[in-house]
Amino acid sequence: MKPADLIWMNGEFVAWEDAKVHVLTHALHYGTGVFEGMRCYDSEIGPAVFRHRDHLTRLGRSAELYYMPTPYDVETLRAATLELIGRNGLRSCYVRPIMFRGYGQMGLNPLDAPVDVSIAVWEWGAYLGDEGKQTGIRTKVSSWRRISPQSLIPAAKASGQYLNSVLAKIESTKAGYEEAILLDDHGHVCEGSGENIFVVWEGRIITPPPAASILDGITRKSAIQIATDLGFEVIERDIARAELYTADEVYMTGTAAELVPVREVDDHTIGDGTPGEVTRAVQSAFEDALHGRSERYREWLDPVPTRAAAKVA
Ligand SMILES: Cc1ncc(COP(=O)(O)O)c(C=O)c1O
Repeated sequence: MKPADLIWMNGEFVAWEDAKVHVLTHALHYGTGVFEGMRCYDSEIGPAVFRHRDHLTRLGRSAELYYMPTPYDVETLRAATLELIGRNGLRSCYVRPIMFRGYGQMGLNPLDAPVDVSIAVWEWGAYLGDEGKQTGIRTKVSSWRRISPQSLIPAAKASGQYLNSVLAKIESTKAGYEEAILLDDHGHVCEGSGENIFVVWEGRIITPPPAASILDGITRKSAIQIATDLGFEVIERDIARAELYTADEVYMTGTAAELVPVREVDDHTIGDGTPGEVTRAVQSAFEDALHGRSERYREWLDPVPTRAAAKVA
């Protein structure tokens, strides 16, 4: 990770190396944090955060689901993020806001622990690699099931929940694959360790519905909108594991990974082993949206104000 100069912590801009917490921070022990992953792109209209308010709204929803009062509203966090990007002189970066139960109370009841908030930004290339985005990735269905809605809250983006993704990621990495695909507790295809999943069958696009224990991804929503606008039929329904193997095309979406074609699942080649036509069409329109090349999706970009952008070298 390439450090930036500044991090925003509880309303202050502090030096990267000073952004520290106590070892008895509640979230460190019990996973009581909620977070977001966003990206700022060096777009046609200058540095701009993709679907900024949508991500911060989801952050607030995740906090509420874990009974965490939010010390800052969406507009305050939004302004802080834009200023932070400007002050760090970054034109494109990953953005990680986190709200977590801090220091002062141990034990499982977090309600008396303070809530701390920080926002970090850093330069981060394609999560699954540039080559992965071009030629597709190799994936493996995990032996770990995606967290059940009967035990946790799949729709929340909460720190502790990610131990599930971490186990799946380690398993797939050790086995030599680039990403894991998790099934839900009914055995249906759910999502990747940090991405949603889409399958293409005879020109139609199929993806698991929000009720299928997925994180309702903001990239997923954008990719559905783009595919629909391109004239494709998008169907939300349960997907059986073997449908992955016989699909014409498979792709995954997420803020960190962006839109990534899948070329293999469990050593079955998808299509002819290269990204298919539908994947390419949606990916290309999505990249245009991210970089402000598409008038139609400009409203998804939240530009870093000129004053802050002026600090960008
Ligand atoms: C488990 C999981 N599913 C899906 C996604 C994709 O969500 P988004 O497109 O909002 O980044 C992510 C990434 O945040 C994730 O961690």
